[in-house]
Amino acid sequence: MYDSNPTLEGIKTIDEIKQGSVFFKDQMSGAGQPGLRKFYIESYGCQMNFSDSEIVASILGDIGYVATRNVEESDLILINTCSIREKAEETVRKRLRAFETVKKERPGAMVGILGCMAERLKKKLLEEEKLVDLVVGPDAYRDLPNLIGGAEDGDRMVNVLLSREETYADISPVRLESNGVTAFISIMRGCDNMCSFCVVPFTRGRERSRDAFSIAAEAADLFEKGYREVTLLGQNVDSYKWENPETGHVVNFAQLLDMTANIHPDLRVRFSTSHPKDMTDEVLHVMARHENICKYIHLPVQSGNSRILELMNRTYDRAWYEDRIRAIRRILPDAAVSSDIITGFCTETEEEHQDTLSMIEWANYSMSYMFFYSERPGTLAARKYADDIPEEIKKRRLNEVIRLQTAISLRHNQQDIGKTFKVLIEGDSRKSAADFCGRNTQNKMVVFPKKEGLKPGEYAMVKIRDTTSATLLGDII
Ligand code: SAH
Ligand code: SF4
Ligand code: F3S
Repeated sequence: MYDSNPTLEGIKTIDEIKQGSVFFKDQMSGAGQPGLRKFYIESYGCQMNFSDSEIVASILGDIGYVATRNVEESDLILINTCSIREKAEETVRKRLRAFETVKKERPGAMVGILGCMAERLKKKLLEEEKLVDLVVGPDAYRDLPNLIGGAEDGDRMVNVLLSREETYADISPVRLESNGVTAFISIMRGCDNMCSFCVVPFTRGRERSRDAFSIAAEAADLFEKGYREVTLLGQNVDSYKWENPETGHVVNFAQLLDMTANIHPDLRVRFSTSHPKDMTDEVLHVMARHENICKYIHLPVQSGNSRILELMNRTYDRAWYEDRIRAIRRILPDAAVSSDIITGFCTETEEEHQDTLSMIEWANYSMSYMFFYSERPGTLAARKYADDIPEEIKKRRLNEVIRLQTAISLRHNQQDIGKTFKVLIEGDSRKSAADFCGRNTQNKMVVFPKKEGLKPGEYAMVKIRDTTSATLLGDII
């Protein structure tokens, strides 16, 4: 049953995918050898950036670099950066100050800026940050060996070319900071939406989808290595679309999900992020068919007001969004939905802010990521609209949103008291080595006392006895 894929004509079976697995030779062949150079990498921003750092680790492994957690002993210090809000960039600048001290003590060490800030600021970063030797954009990581070579010769190197094709499909990521149970898989890169507030289309370039076989092969390989959960990543997973160059067969996101879920019933599949304008009922039906596709959808609304949504260029209005939530409730009655919210976008009135509050209430989100609007240079909103909501109002509205969401999250969790969930054990709980933590299908963190014989990567049935707004507490039954 798990070897073939009934819904995908022309798509290979999982066994065929594994046999043809050119993708997954172990690329850290140099690991453990003495005298190797060491790199240190810090990642900021979204999961895609963390996933990219694992691609970078693989490329560096091929030229004899091994990862270290200790910046003081590294020969190459990398920071994979985020530009999404001003604060994200400030954080990176602060870390660069800290690296200055390290570099003084290790004169040969090189410092490289990767990711979205590298792409946004390009050569300017070299002028602004004197300690930086390398500036490398998200589509240029294959050029790292060459760029590092140049930097070793004393040049300051920049490659910020964006690509229409690069998906790093053939590179087997080296899992950094891994719990050995859950892993991210990038299924696409870039974004073709032009949300007016957002810098991502500029820093990540055009949207492109990765070879479906390479995705399935990566998931199958992870499963064989003991991983039990994969999260398929993209800025807008619903527009995933890959055409097999040999057969012309086109794989959409629903089919990719189906294919990944078929690898093994014990391999959980998650995904992020869904876009309300593109999320189809077909995807929801595939989720309903597979127990191992987690019943959790991150469906960012941004605002509950249709005029603001239009200014944001989200290309849906409130009625459309509500329709998508109704479809989820109908097809997946037990699914949890979470959201992203921006407060104080250009010209937002108090009434329009109230619409966001009522949206949060109506949608009954299990949780949300909440931000106040931060104008980003070069975006549509920065060019077209005045950033006219004073910061204290943006922050006050944000606090109201946070207060409401926290109350709703608590209420959402309280409804779980007395229920029993299948939890994938991820490891020790943060607070006590006597407890395990793991998630249920709805992506809620569950903490429970350990039981002899059970270990991370295994499933436990946990009955919920208590809750906070962030974590469920229970006992194995
Ligand atoms: N592709 C995802 C979002 C990626 S960015 C989507 O479309 O949903 C993650 C979140 O950061 C966004 O959903 C938005 O809520 C927030 N964000 C993006 N740009 C922002 C800005 N300029 N100011 C404040 N928040 C922003
Ligand atoms: Fe940014 Fe919109 Fe693309 Fe998300 S969908 S990355 S918010 S432009
Ligand atoms: Fe940040 Fe770039 Fe991700 S701007 S949110 S790291 S795509």
